[in-house]
Amino acid sequence: MNKNSIILVLALVGIAFMTFMLLSIGGKKEEQALLNATPVIKEEGIEARSDEWGKYYPHQYDSWKQTSESSKIEDQLEKYPQLVILWAGYGFAKDYNAPRGHAFALQSNRNTLRTGGPTGADDGPMPMACWTCKSSDVPRLMEKEGELEFFTGKWARAGSEIVNPIGCADCHNTQTSQLELSRPYLKRALEESGQELDKLTFQDMRSLACAQCHSEYYFKKTPYTDKSGKDQVAAVVTFPWAKGLSAENMEEYYNEYGFMDWEHKMSRVPMLKAQHPGYETFTTGIHFKRGLSCADCHMPYTQKGAIKFSTHKIQSPLDNIANSCLTCHRQSEQEFKDIVQEKLDRKNQLNVIAMNSLAAAHLTAKKAWEVGATQAEMAPAIDTIRSAQWLWDYSIASHGSFFHAPGETLRLLGVANNKAQQARITLSGILAKYGVIDYEVPDFSTKEKAQQLAGVPLDKLVDEKQTFRKGLMQEWNNEAVEEGRLTDEFVKGLPEKASYLPE
Ligand code: HEC
Ligand code: HEC
Ligand code: HEC
Ligand code: HEC
Repeated sequence: MNKNSIILVLALVGIAFMTFMLLSIGGKKEEQALLNATPVIKEEGIEARSDEWGKYYPHQYDSWKQTSESSKIEDQLEKYPQLVILWAGYGFAKDYNAPRGHAFALQSNRNTLRTGGPTGADDGPMPMACWTCKSSDVPRLMEKEGELEFFTGKWARAGSEIVNPIGCADCHNTQTSQLELSRPYLKRALEESGQELDKLTFQDMRSLACAQCHSEYYFKKTPYTDKSGKDQVAAVVTFPWAKGLSAENMEEYYNEYGFMDWEHKMSRVPMLKAQHPGYETFTTGIHFKRGLSCADCHMPYTQKGAIKFSTHKIQSPLDNIANSCLTCHRQSEQEFKDIVQEKLDRKNQLNVIAMNSLAAAHLTAKKAWEVGATQAEMAPAIDTIRSAQWLWDYSIASHGSFFHAPGETLRLLGVANNKAQQARITLSGILAKYGVIDYEVPDFSTKEKAQQLAGVPLDKLVDEKQTFRKGLMQEWNNEAVEEGRLTDEFVKGLPEKASYLPE
């Protein structure tokens, strides 16, 4: 090829590219016009039913529905029985699955053994706060009742009100359709951690919409007087961000506050349960530092005819590498799959090592109590186990941290394992003092064995749950349909899945 034809080819490629870009911008404009001409979905209040939004935004609604393609139950307790030991005495030892698509969030919450089998509004193990990240009815009900009132009472109190899974109203304002933080506790946490709400950029919002739920939280006991003058205590979802977002910052926050989620059934350690600090860990990674937001990878722009829109099929970006990664990177899809897999393998290796050390530490502590160790002798090991398990949990609980923040994830797993091993050495010393040498921890290599050790009455829990699912839960659905809160045929038709149901 001579120089002129190279220039010609380059020019043609350039023109084609420009045309493509103009068309895409045109498409984007069209969608934007639709957005600007926003048919107010509802004049007042919050519209929790995504099918109502879908009448105006069919592309977003259709792709949102596709989150139901990720429906498979992956029982994490089967895969890692160590978890049962780590969480002995706490709900997660009963049932814990890998995340599925947003369409299933509410179903997962109703079906998990952790929420139990309530028989009425005032029954069951969990508080109202457990609905917080599962449903677009949450902002609606918070607005209707008041935030503190919302966070008061048992989970079963609002079963017939919370009926739509995560949907449009979780992230968008009903009157303007713009992105909006529907959860007041995130706004408070941002302010406490030194951010100014009126300085948030659009790009910030494309991550903060997710941070409403993909963040670490605890239930803060908050006394108040209700409208009828009665003293109440709300359990309010609160982010421990006041000292910063790192694992160590939050640990300090919790220690100062004297907080524990539960007392461990074997080691009697006052434990912390990390939830899913996905946003927090993401902020330590290179993509955040280079200005990316969650939506860049999990909601990439998609072209359909002349229309360009953000795909609302929020999923693993590996199912859509072309749109999620190759907009910026130049390698092949396979190369990207391999890079991510390698990061996952590295995390898994250290994760299993740390979990085994922690499980052994809890079981050894149990033995030490049994042979008569005193509170004073146990105190140092107890503190070390609490810290070790917090760091471990923080590092992996958000599922994506191995990719979002690989360095931070591996650092925390390393430190957690070291602390767990330190505790074991201390505990061996205590055991020796009481004449126990060569203590071998019992076998916890299957979910069944581990649940036996942890005293989880699985059959009973499943029976109670099934009674609830066939009884009260159906009443909730019927009432919600009758009163028009649940209208979406798609939501009504989602297949029911759970760890204890046949596939
Ligand atoms: C988990 C949060 C979340 C949920 C749930 C959600 N959206 Fe979005 N939505 C976003 C984000 C983030 C964007 C990207 C904003 C941008 O870049 O323009 C967006 C963009 C949009 C836009 C602007 C055009 C576009 O496609 O970029 C519309 C319209 C929209 N969403 C409608 C909906 C509808 C309808 C639903 C319910 C079916 C919904 N959204 C559910 C977060 C959400
Ligand atoms: C209202 C709370 C809420 C919001 C807002 C939210 N999520 Fe989620 N997300 C969840 C819950 C709960 C699950 C687990 C659902 C289940 O397992 O049933 C989940 C699951 C996921 C999954 C796993 C999906 C799969 O198929 O395995 C990804 C990825 C995800 N969310 C990303 C995001 C991103 C990105 C945003 C912001 C654009 C976001 N989420 C906003 C609550 C939320
Ligand atoms: C640079 C791209 C990128 C950005 C930005 C990003 N993620 Fe991810 N995310 C990924 C990849 C890749 C995975 C791993 C997927 C897998 O293992 O299949 C992942 C995994 C996840 C998972 C776990 C999904 C599962 O089923 O295990 C969640 C949840 C998640 N991300 C949420 C978020 C949130 C919330 C943000 C913003 C705070 C965010 N992501 C920002 C690329 C990204
Ligand atoms: C909007 C642009 C953009 C998108 C989309 C994007 N990246 Fe990146 N990625 C970057 C930038 C910028 C860096 C940092 C490069 C640097 O500073 O050296 C980076 C760095 C990386 C690195 C090296 C750092 C590390 O953590 O190992 C990997 C691997 C990577 N990206 C994978 C992915 C994958 C997988 C996806 C899709 C899920 C993705 N990226 C999507 C812009 C992007």
